[in-house]
Amino acid sequence: MLERKELVEEIMYWKEKRNAVLLAHNYQLPEIQDIADVLGDSLHLARATTEVDADVIVFCGVHFMAETSAILNPNKKVLLPDINAGCSLADSITVEQLREWKKEHPNATVVSYVNTSADVKAESDYCCTSSNAVEVVNAIPEDQEILFLPDMFLGSFVQRQTGRENMHIWMGECHVHAGIEPQHIDTVTNNHPNADLLVHPECGCSTSMIYLSGEGELPEEKTHILSTGRMLDYSKQSSANEFIVATETGIIHQMQKQNPDKSFYAANPEAVCPFMKMITLEKVLQSLKEDTHVISVPKDTAEKARTAIDRMVAIG
Ligand code: 13P
Ligand code: SF4
Repeated sequence: MLERKELVEEIMYWKEKRNAVLLAHNYQLPEIQDIADVLGDSLHLARATTEVDADVIVFCGVHFMAETSAILNPNKKVLLPDINAGCSLADSITVEQLREWKKEHPNATVVSYVNTSADVKAESDYCCTSSNAVEVVNAIPEDQEILFLPDMFLGSFVQRQTGRENMHIWMGECHVHAGIEPQHIDTVTNNHPNADLLVHPECGCSTSMIYLSGEGELPEEKTHILSTGRMLDYSKQSSANEFIVATETGIIHQMQKQNPDKSFYAANPEAVCPFMKMITLEKVLQSLKEDTHVISVPKDTAEKARTAIDRMVAIG
């Protein structure tokens, strides 16, 4: 077994040899975050994927992210170091279910969260991420009926922000964010009453609403519903010194690294995404050496999904 230092050296050697880049999501293990060429939220990574100058992209994230990267880069090789790194939210709707839903609303515009399979994206008009979902919905004419999928909490958040009444929301959820409940936040806010609260929109809508309506322990101006990338920006720019973080706990590594003098508390320390944590240094090295696992999307699916993804990359 190689030591961590040797593993990192080997990865650097193979990265150069293959003209590869490592893209990593903010929920990755600390040791992966520390060697990433680009680290960010889903939107930032999707945009970066088209900008990097490389033959190979090693995607340290989950399957739908690597698939999106492969669709945007038909001429680059996209590798996912563990093929089982899926997403419970993406699994909450199949393409067959979407086709049935569309039949019930034949004139609706379909807005899919990026956390979906390529097949689902191919049946969608727009994709969005948590950082531009409000802007994407606002870009659609007001009288146009919308099917928003698959996250019910993000959907409710977008509906509140946009005031859209003609929006139908799929009842899917991420098991990690759904597990961050109001009582977790109550406990942490009681212990840290001066902290700002950063909430990912995939968290239970009740959580967001309680705090945004000012009925929770924290005043409204201290509650911020943000994508992971915007949480990082906010914690850097804010004059606050303490933050309660209601999302997957992996992001705290980066927050603490960027702000060594500030304090970050997980709303629920058990909010750990098992899929994100499947990517290890050993698997990244194996991926670079053995091409495990090449992510490819059938040409016709990729072509159909591309319009929705291009709109997502362009908006917000
Ligand atoms: P972000 O786009 O905010 O990074 O979220 C991605 C994700 O999977 C959240 O669970
Ligand atoms: Fe999917 Fe949830 Fe993991 Fe994000 S945290 S990748 S939505 S399972």
